[in-house]
Amino acid sequence: MRDPSTFRSNRWFHGDQYEHLARRAWLRSEGFTDAAFDGRPVIGICNSWSELTNCNAHLRQVAEAVKRGVWAAGGVPLEFPTISLGEMFMKPTTMLFRNLMSMDVEESISANPIDGVVLLCGCDKTTPAQLMGAASANIPAIMVTGGPMLSGRWHGRPLGSGTDGRKLFEDLRAGRIGEEQWAEVEGCISRSAGHCTVMGTASTMASMAEALGMMLSGGAAIPAVDARRYQLAEASGRRIVDMVCEDLTPSRILTREAFENAVRTDMAIGGSTNAVVHLLAIAGRAGVGLNLDDFDRISRETPYIADIKPSGRHLMEDFYYAGGLPCVMKELLPLLHGGALTVSGRTIEQEVSSVRIRDRTLIRSLDAPLNAEGGTAILYGNLAPNGAVIKQTAASPRLLRHRGRALAFDRYETLRSCIDDDLDVDENTVLVLKNAGPLGGPGFPEWGHLPIPGKLLKAGVDDIVRVSDARMSGTSFGTDVLHVSPESAVGGPLAAVRTGDEIELDVPGRRIDLRVEANEIRRRLADRPAQPPHYRRGYGKLFLDQVTQAHEGCDFRFLAGEERVPA
Ligand code: FES
Repeated sequence: MRDPSTFRSNRWFHGDQYEHLARRAWLRSEGFTDAAFDGRPVIGICNSWSELTNCNAHLRQVAEAVKRGVWAAGGVPLEFPTISLGEMFMKPTTMLFRNLMSMDVEESISANPIDGVVLLCGCDKTTPAQLMGAASANIPAIMVTGGPMLSGRWHGRPLGSGTDGRKLFEDLRAGRIGEEQWAEVEGCISRSAGHCTVMGTASTMASMAEALGMMLSGGAAIPAVDARRYQLAEASGRRIVDMVCEDLTPSRILTREAFENAVRTDMAIGGSTNAVVHLLAIAGRAGVGLNLDDFDRISRETPYIADIKPSGRHLMEDFYYAGGLPCVMKELLPLLHGGALTVSGRTIEQEVSSVRIRDRTLIRSLDAPLNAEGGTAILYGNLAPNGAVIKQTAASPRLLRHRGRALAFDRYETLRSCIDDDLDVDENTVLVLKNAGPLGGPGFPEWGHLPIPGKLLKAGVDDIVRVSDARMSGTSFGTDVLHVSPESAVGGPLAAVRTGDEIELDVPGRRIDLRVEANEIRRRLADRPAQPPHYRRGYGKLFLDQVTQAHEGCDFRFLAGEERVPA
């Protein structure tokens, strides 16, 4: 146990200089008494609450539960805001601002008299941004996510936010449902506070926080409005005080083994393809050399066993009742690094070995998986020399080996504006979008689930191969090749694709190739017209100057590495 005189906050509040008195006096102005300065750990509550981030709009209530726990354990809680990233509202894309939020989190922690921090997040990017910032700040940190919304229901049919909304939108475009039914869906697809209800990016990243050991075991899947989420928050408030005393920092938890556990868990739950980019970035902050080959190796070794949308059939609420992530990790234990440390001070194996799986139809055994391999596969080939990703468990099996003619678009807006025209397409067409990567988008938008041409939808075609350098919402589904790297905006081979070219996809063989002669590809790339940058000033320019490519995690070059901020 640490001597309280070694706490960071001690250097702010204890001393005989004017500033020590002033800091105490100004904290007293908030109504705090001597108890705030008697050697207790000061616990920051890093809150991404915002009414502009719908999924995180209940986090102030969650913060109150955290504070109860901190006070009860003998700490002093101080809540602070950072910028927040709301997936539904922010333009051009929240991904443009993930690194900015991570910097806000890191600097807010590092610049203040905080001995430990509780991270409150929920919507997609808020979770990796906080983990990246906390890894860099490297003071004791524990995460509490906001939890998934309650399941939607429409005419007896379960509705998962994102996934079913997109499916029904295709039905609307094909004329299978009308405007009146579409309006009904709007009223019942988002039933409560919390993040999206499927294994989209928010649920995946909450699961990654738990699998990394940065959240108390069992926390990821508790519904947002369930009393047990507030109990989790209170328990996390208690625990962070002990973590400060034990000096249990992220660098002791975010090890190579922890990241391998997270990747393996991601594969078993059919997690969002965005987890690839975010885990690479978090690992970069922790000084762990994770790369795309680690993902593919682990994917080949790890069965997909959690039957949750969009790869499977169920919603996060059902997953919680089935036992949640600890049950998946118990099933995976033979493949995990069971000795990896968690925020509880116990190992992964100690946390999950005694849990009971309550629904075997939802959480399968390794012997009877839903798919022999993990959810995400990594592809290489002359179209993606540095890699691309595909969520193979949410793709159409008939398209996993496919060769077809490209219909290529340079701009997303052009594609959107003509997708319902009488295009020259059939079920073998490969739809291609360029200029949608980190620099091209800009910001690496979630355009990768390209809309199926209306002509095909009306003919009953529900999936075609789509290829882009964009990301895709974790709630989406289909045979979508994503994150093609290097992206077209920096001269990646995707920029050379023309309508009519043949593209060959071979997911079992892990290939994506453009069937055009290498010399011709080189000639087309050399003739590519220069494109003006999207930003010439401000944060946008910093992003364009510093962001890395998809296969590197899209962090800023100057933020990676484990150089710690002086305490
Ligand atoms: Fe926030 Fe889906 S929109 S998690």
